[in-house]
Amino acid sequence: MATARPRLIERVTEPSLMDFAAEVRAGLSKPAQKELPSQYLYDEVGSALFEAICLLPEYGLSRAGARLLREHSAEIIDRLPLPVIVAELGSGSGSKTRSILEALATRQPVRYFPIDISRMALSRCWQELGHIDSVSMVGFERAYQDGLLEVAARRESGERLLVLFLGSTIGNFDRPAGEDFLRAVRRVLLPGDALLLATDLEKPVPQLVEAYDDSAGVTAAFNLNMLAHINQALGGDFNLRSFEHSVRWNGSERRIEMHLRSTEDQTVKLARAGFSCRLRAGETIWTESSHKYNCAEVVAMGERAGYRCDAQWVDAEWPFAQSLFIAI
Ligand code: AVJ
Repeated sequence: MATARPRLIERVTEPSLMDFAAEVRAGLSKPAQKELPSQYLYDEVGSALFEAICLLPEYGLSRAGARLLREHSAEIIDRLPLPVIVAELGSGSGSKTRSILEALATRQPVRYFPIDISRMALSRCWQELGHIDSVSMVGFERAYQDGLLEVAARRESGERLLVLFLGSTIGNFDRPAGEDFLRAVRRVLLPGDALLLATDLEKPVPQLVEAYDDSAGVTAAFNLNMLAHINQALGGDFNLRSFEHSVRWNGSERRIEMHLRSTEDQTVKLARAGFSCRLRAGETIWTESSHKYNCAEVVAMGERAGYRCDAQWVDAEWPFAQSLFIAI
């Protein structure tokens, strides 16, 4: 007799091709600066390239985040109201989260709910974190906000919620949108619930530029691969060889920007989006922003969004902060 297998990943239908096409079309139709949403960096190849980026000597970000959690998990757990269930926004790479889950599991049985729009990321997460003693996991294949609502609905009385946002993905939002995001998360929380937020911090500009323009060209491949992803999904004819990776520090916005620069005058067709677009030689498509913060600014942003900052940990080697916010 077949036994029912537990549902490990709650699925929804694929994000629609219509949305994808509409977003790409809108971004490439901007008159001044063309742009494409950074989320499209992460197809299967893009996700693998991002994991390679995290191993590069120039890219200290993820190592710093992991180091902080390894060193301070016990203290973080001591500061939490227990018992908590754990939601993670973006299922991330397992190693960072493992420290937290293992530390928490010494105190209580852990219910862990990673939320990610990528099914692949969730299954990788399951491989990494699905077998820790006293930790049960159910992944949600959802947008962050939708997934968070579902996790919140699963809490039982007396259980607090801990939200992990560890990748410093908040840097992809411009500052006002980042703050709005914290506010949207806050609306799902109850007073006393917690948010652990990772942010990359400002550091010397050459160091930042190198982190996004590594000498082995992995980040360049990651950036160019967005065009391959669009070709594949929307029947496009982007020629990756007629674009080059370009990284700049935007000092007034305090962010790294990644662009793809067209090396020639060209017209690109996207058959499945019924759309074509002209690019001049030298013109760029802006594909990602990575905002850099300072510690005080992160605290102030959290406070405006409805939290108090209970503690903040900063890596000594690579300026990077983990901030523990409690909903008020
Ligand atoms: C995953 C958004 C944190 O902005 O540093 C890495 C993505 N882009 N190299 C970042 C990224 C280029 C990364 N985040």
